[in-house]
Amino acid sequence: MRVLSGIQPTGPIHWGNYFGAIRQYIALQDNEQAFYFIANLHALTTVRNPAKLRQWTFDVALDLLALGLNPDKATLFVQSDVQEVSELCWLLMTGAPMGLLERCHAYKDKKAKGLIADAGLFTYPVLQAADILAYDSDTVPVGEDQVQHIEVCRDLAGSFNHEFGDVFVMPKAYVLETSARVPGIDGEKMSKSYNNTLNVFEDAKAQRKQIMRIVTDSRQMDQPKEPAGDVLFDLYSLVASESDRDTMAALYRRGGFGYGEIKKALADAAEKFWAEPRKRRAELAGHPDRIKEILAAGAAVARKKAAAVLKRAQDACGIKGV
Ligand code: ADP
Ligand code: TRP
Repeated sequence: MRVLSGIQPTGPIHWGNYFGAIRQYIALQDNEQAFYFIANLHALTTVRNPAKLRQWTFDVALDLLALGLNPDKATLFVQSDVQEVSELCWLLMTGAPMGLLERCHAYKDKKAKGLIADAGLFTYPVLQAADILAYDSDTVPVGEDQVQHIEVCRDLAGSFNHEFGDVFVMPKAYVLETSARVPGIDGEKMSKSYNNTLNVFEDAKAQRKQIMRIVTDSRQMDQPKEPAGDVLFDLYSLVASESDRDTMAALYRRGGFGYGEIKKALADAAEKFWAEPRKRRAELAGHPDRIKEILAAGAAVARKKAAAVLKRAQDACGIKGV
């Protein structure tokens, strides 16, 4: 089975990205043929600063490797290093109904807000379809928000196959556990756009300060409280061991604690949980050439596959063989 997913380089990764997506991608590398890429062409629809786009693209590679992505098991590459994908995108674009793309949420939401969308955002799902189809991917692990895009991909692949023969493998979305909806420091869903993130590769001291500032309710110290759904408890559960989490849950149910103590326990657990990846990332950052080699080797593997699939598509629709 070929598993494929993409991560946009749009800024530092946060706990929501890790627990909601990245952790599970990495786990899949052990049993599947995994292709993971850094979706810089997609990020260009929002990141319009070239220095930042370059930096964040490189940073995502560092982040993934520090978090355990093993380049001997999974293929890691940068989206734009496989130019075949952009050509395949055009082939798919010629058969992509306007109505289908008009219903896609990123474009629809922007339009509903009265903002002007560009063609990049409008056709974003077609490029995503090309990403998936270029490698004969059959399983695409994604968060709930991306399921619509996988449906678009299936539609486009289905109609191309219908018109031109059996060219593309039909992929399936593999929806990651939605229970891992990580809250931000204001209790809303953690997201870069809400400015409420705890970043994975934050300095431990700075992160401790952020944790100390998490907004809590004004509950009386002696009142018991249901742990699930409490921001501090939910964050603590992600980074603490199972037995520490159970002890903390019992403390909530008993009552008689201050939020300051909980925040301290959360900061301690977070520091311990992230210590190893943070150390590994600092080491990797000292060897940028090694990262570039990994990305180049990944791109070579990916290009070989994409070139074969593109040729199949070109032959089928009459672009090659004149
Ligand atoms: P952001 O909202 O910060 O811009 P992205 O949309 O770039 O984050 O997130 C990339 C992936 O990370 C999403 O597809 C989703 O699967 C996961 N993710 C992001 N935020 C959270 C969260 N708060 N809880 C769980 N998963 C999340
Ligand atoms: N659109 C995805 C996101 O915002 C990133 C992405 C680009 C992707 N191409 C992909 C994910 C192909 C899965 C498969 O998270």
